[in-house]
Amino acid sequence: MGLGLRRMERLAGVGVGPLAIGAVGVLLLLQIIRRVRRKQVLQDKVVVITGASSGLGKECARVFHAAGARLILCGRDQKRLQEVVEELGVKTDGKTKTYTPCTVTFDLSDTETVASAAAEILKCHGHVDVLVNNAGISYRGSILDTHVSVQKDVMDTNYFGPVALTQAILPSMVERGAGHIVVISSVQGKIAIPYRSAYAASKHATQAFFDCLRAEVERFGLHVSVISPGYIRTNLSLNAVTGDGSKYGVMDKTTAAGWDPVDVAHAVLKAVTYRQKDVLLAGPLPALAVYLRTLWPAAFFRLMASRAKKEKGIKEQ
Ligand SMILES: NC(=O)c1ccc[n+]([C@@H]2O[C@H](COP(=O)([O-])OP(=O)(O)OC[C@H]3O[C@@H](n4cnc5c(N)ncnc54)[C@H](OP(=O)(O)O)[C@@H]3O)[C@@H](O)[C@H]2O)c1
Repeated sequence: MGLGLRRMERLAGVGVGPLAIGAVGVLLLLQIIRRVRRKQVLQDKVVVITGASSGLGKECARVFHAAGARLILCGRDQKRLQEVVEELGVKTDGKTKTYTPCTVTFDLSDTETVASAAAEILKCHGHVDVLVNNAGISYRGSILDTHVSVQKDVMDTNYFGPVALTQAILPSMVERGAGHIVVISSVQGKIAIPYRSAYAASKHATQAFFDCLRAEVERFGLHVSVISPGYIRTNLSLNAVTGDGSKYGVMDKTTAAGWDPVDVAHAVLKAVTYRQKDVLLAGPLPALAVYLRTLWPAAFFRLMASRAKKEKGIKEQ
């Protein structure tokens, strides 16, 4: 019996070595294929990123820059955008040809000026290959205490701004028969949680608009990706607005414990490389909540109501 066991161990020992080497080999090969694919897809491509001065947008700028894209970085603050340009300028991996990004400053919430910003964007390289609608603002507050003007402001930045920019860039993409439009939505574009009404509404609208767009532009050879992340470790909650329009200014625990923006930026790059249509980047619980909302709405509503009661209780302490 002891002999049999030893023989089995020997057999296993013989088998495990080559198996491990084979597995490492396959992984390396997959990595090389991915790198080549990424390079083929993004080298020299013109990529516009809104909200590139901070958080996820800044990380997207880093990964698309490293993949050889010609970037056009957008935001409201030229100085902060220039800092990103300078940071990117010195970081290349030596294998990919990289470019110094252009910058275009404008306020997405002012939809009147978005068309002229889009004209400026198109002037940079004559066309846009990939538009990443990333800029956004969050909100914290109860509906009872929130001015309608705040609901509108959040919609302007998160919904009407990206819609106006996309509509301004779209004709040039249709004319070329090429282009990829990405929008950074949120898990809250799929489920609505209490005390986030303005944000959740803007992201639900975003999901709907870009789903319609995808269907409408497929016949022109264009692609649309809606990315819906859960919490990401950025300044989003610090920059959020409250019911009276003032800044929330708190780094929420959920945000601080969220995804690394680097990982989310790589997921955005992957979505463009593989033309993924709808990407949910969430842990098992939020993912389950998304399915619960569709398959068992009554249970979802009960959970949200008790969450609202609990949160209100915490706020009143
Ligand atoms: N962090 C999360 O937990 C999380 C989760 C899911 C989805 N998201 C989404 O991810 C995206 C990026 O947010 P983030 O987490 O990286 O937050 P962030 O660090 O606060 O960055 C937001 C970016 O949006 C820009 N922006 C805000 N309002 C703007 C306006 N009116 N016009 C032009 N640009 C504006 C800001 O640029 P300037 O201030 O320099 O203009 C900044 O670059 C947002 O769409 C957000 O909804 C975030």
